[in-house]
Amino acid sequence: MNATTLGNGASLHIPSVADLQVYQPEAETLENHFIVGFDSRDVRARPFNLVRTQVAKRLASRGARIVGITSATPDAGKSFFSLNLAASLSRVAEQTVYLVDLDLRRGSIATELGMTPKLGVSDFLDGTTDDLGSLGWRVDNSDLAVFPTRSIRGNSAELMASERFAQLVESFRSLPDNAIVLCDMPPAFANDDTMIAMQKLDGFFMVIDSGRTTKRQVRDTMEMLQPAPCFGAVMNRYKGALMDSYGYGYGYGSKMYDAYYN
Ligand SMILES: Nc1ncnc2c1ncn2[C@@H]1O[C@H](COP(=O)(O)OP(=O)(O)OP(=O)(O)O)[C@@H](O)[C@H]1O
Ligand SMILES: [Mg+2]
Repeated sequence: MNATTLGNGASLHIPSVADLQVYQPEAETLENHFIVGFDSRDVRARPFNLVRTQVAKRLASRGARIVGITSATPDAGKSFFSLNLAASLSRVAEQTVYLVDLDLRRGSIATELGMTPKLGVSDFLDGTTDDLGSLGWRVDNSDLAVFPTRSIRGNSAELMASERFAQLVESFRSLPDNAIVLCDMPPAFANDDTMIAMQKLDGFFMVIDSGRTTKRQVRDTMEMLQPAPCFGAVMNRYKGALMDSYGYGYGYGSKMYDAYYN
């Protein structure tokens, strides 16, 4: 059963990926935004394919399926990583992926895919619509569903703390077992949104901007988001020897680490 009920009695239902409206991103848009995870032949997709296996294993071993992707500070590459990981994961047989933009003030998933949706996650949270199906899009020829948001000003933390946010999460939670839900979050220190939302999610991955994010910022983020578990840290823009020796550095690198900073 993938339906929950709103306070007003309206039934909330997240359609399966196959039943969503279809969106076909332009190849040029994907290229311009470095979204390479859809193409298994693209050498730049390899780091994401390696990371996706780790992500799937870590989620499965913890019984987790709704996870946030955050960072300490802005511009670490959360949305870049979320999109590429989602695309790469969705290519695994029998796996469906829902990518939800929870950066309510500065959501970028729609723009990165070249979409201009009339409604987004924020419109559900503020009560503009009760129809979750109208918010989601299947990326053409894939098992990836995206739920973009339209950027709002103001009361995003209150929306995250609302009953409707809890209902939204519960609706995703009642998707079939083969669905993973990745939530692109704001930076943890930007506002309260991530801290509040994380209380409802199963845990998070942290994107570390190689050379810029400090150990202290990582530690403070982990502390701030407690008790939500950190499932791992991803080093973005990593150009270390390991990546280069396999031929995929060049600024596209992403590498998964355990939460090593205790
Ligand atoms: N490894 C990478 N290789 C190439 N470009 C990258 C990489 N990581 C991020 N970028 C680019 O850097 C910019 C910032 O990345 P992104 O928007 O994903 O960061 P973010 O952490 O989501 O930022 P915000 O905090 O504003 O949400 C984007 O233009 C993205 O395409
Ligand atoms: Mg972002």
